[in-house]
Amino acid sequence: MKIDSQKLVEAAAQAREGSVSPYSQFKVGAALLTKSGEIIGGANVESASYGLTCCAERVALFKALTDGKKNFVAVAVVARCEGGPMPCGACRQLLAEYAPDAKVFIADSRAPGRIREFTVRELLPAAFAGASLKLN
Ligand code: THU
Repeated sequence: MKIDSQKLVEAAAQAREGSVSPYSQFKVGAALLTKSGEIIGGANVESASYGLTCCAERVALFKALTDGKKNFVAVAVVARCEGGPMPCGACRQLLAEYAPDAKVFIADSRAPGRIREFTVRELLPAAFAGASLKLN
């Protein structure tokens, strides 16, 4: 399947406009692409308690999953920072669980044509795979 990374980065840039980030002023947008070609966007939402903040990647993932979407082939993440924003550890874990085969496209919103490409597997090798151990 040929993935249009530019189009997905543009969708992430558009989703970024929905960011609710009054504390950091750091707007992040993410867009997931499904195998069937659907794109689901999300943006970061911050809390006055700071710790309850949810990253753009997880918002996009939760939106998609609760709408019954699955089989993600790629995710794009965009913010205004040099080289673009690398997903945090928590988001990497969720991506490893729900989008293990996805490509990850990262871009600076000021240079959306300059896309860095990774895979979920390389961003989180040996991810936690669930409590599969039976203790008794
Ligand atoms: N943030 C994301 O949305 N995604 C990332 O990949 C890194 C961090 C958000 C969380 C918070 O709202 C803001 O960026 C500053 O950390």
